[in-house]
Amino acid sequence: MKCILITGGAGFIGSNFAHYVAELHPEIRIVILDKLTYAGNFRNLVDILGKHVELVVGDICDVPLVNKLVHQSDAIIHFAAESHNDNSLVNPWSFMQTNIVGTYTLIQAATKYNKRFHHVSTDEVYGDLPLDMDNEKFTPDSQYRPSSPYSASKASSDMLVRAWIRSFGLQATISNCSNNYGPYQHIEKFIPRQITNILSGRRPKLYGSGNNVRDWIHVNDHSAAIWDILTRGRIGETYLVGADGEMSNKAVLEMILKLMKQPQNAYDIVKDRPGHDLRYAIDASKIRDELGWQPLYTDFQSGLQETINWYMDHQDWWQMDKNKVEMTYARNNQ
Ligand code: NAD
Ligand code: DAU
Repeated sequence: MKCILITGGAGFIGSNFAHYVAELHPEIRIVILDKLTYAGNFRNLVDILGKHVELVVGDICDVPLVNKLVHQSDAIIHFAAESHNDNSLVNPWSFMQTNIVGTYTLIQAATKYNKRFHHVSTDEVYGDLPLDMDNEKFTPDSQYRPSSPYSASKASSDMLVRAWIRSFGLQATISNCSNNYGPYQHIEKFIPRQITNILSGRRPKLYGSGNNVRDWIHVNDHSAAIWDILTRGRIGETYLVGADGEMSNKAVLEMILKLMKQPQNAYDIVKDRPGHDLRYAIDASKIRDELGWQPLYTDFQSGLQETINWYMDHQDWWQMDKNKVEMTYARNNQ
């Protein structure tokens, strides 16, 4: 591969992936297509932008632009999305437009120019698992049962990719990953919201009982998994990515409080998310067995400490957004 196109590369996971590839393969030209919505930040890329890494500000729904960029690339790694469940419950329109129409636009172009396509998706397409059956996990054969407008739009995009593989021979793979954490994650999301609440003198906010379970994976382990699938995965296959990192939200919050030297009860319980998925858990045996991928960040507490340090050291990266994000949550009693 001489040139890859990364959509959504100014967001959390896309920018981490761009750093990952730029470091591992400096010979590959990276073109990033990103609309720079509220979730995209060109500062996520400043240290790699240059001769080999280019940012094109634009929309994945823009057919002529997408055709031009796809034509010039050897492979497309598709991260661009509206990604936050809470936003999708208030205003779903942009989720339908970007996640469904945007994916359609990209796979049409990838089919037209016969380009390798990797679709980055989420475990949320499978809905949730019961809290009291902790041996059950999502597998590539799990039924699609999305619960929110966000996960329904991602499920729709997966279905489009699957149909294009079968009907038009699109050279594609799909990955469905669990909850990521690490640097550059927008402060609307659970872990950075709580860290930056504490750093800005606010109290952390836990939805409902706090018993909901998420399966945490460090974003660098996700980047490595995507690279392995892109370069060695079987066309037409779906790979589930997760690092056996199941924890309740309450336990994660208590760990943040402990690491940031706060009292264990120094948080507020706020209104629960409507339709709140109970538990996610990934069976990643397919990617482990077939591609030999394995997570390197196996100690969640030290990964979390590194993440806390990153937000402490990069206050200028998040401070200007903090009031706005918290005002939006406050309007929703969260
Ligand atoms: P993010 O919200 O941090 O970043 C999304 C990026 O897409 C932003 O830079 C934004 O500007 C860009 N974008 C949005 N609409 C666009 C459009 N119409 N055209 C071009 N660019 C557009 O999201 P993230 O958390 O980095 O997630 C990236 C991908 O990974 C998403 O597809 C998401 O569904 C998937 N995913 C996320 C997680 C997670 O834990 N965050 C887990 C599994 C899968
Ligand atoms: O599973 C993968 C998904 O993980 C991705 O597809 C999504 O893009 C990503 O946003 C994430 O979805 P979640 O809804 O699980 O993540 P979020 O960070 O919004 O919330 C994590 C959990 O924490 C969830 O159970 C809701 C809860 N929560 C969230 C916030 C923002 C709180 O208790 N308090 C909060 O303030």
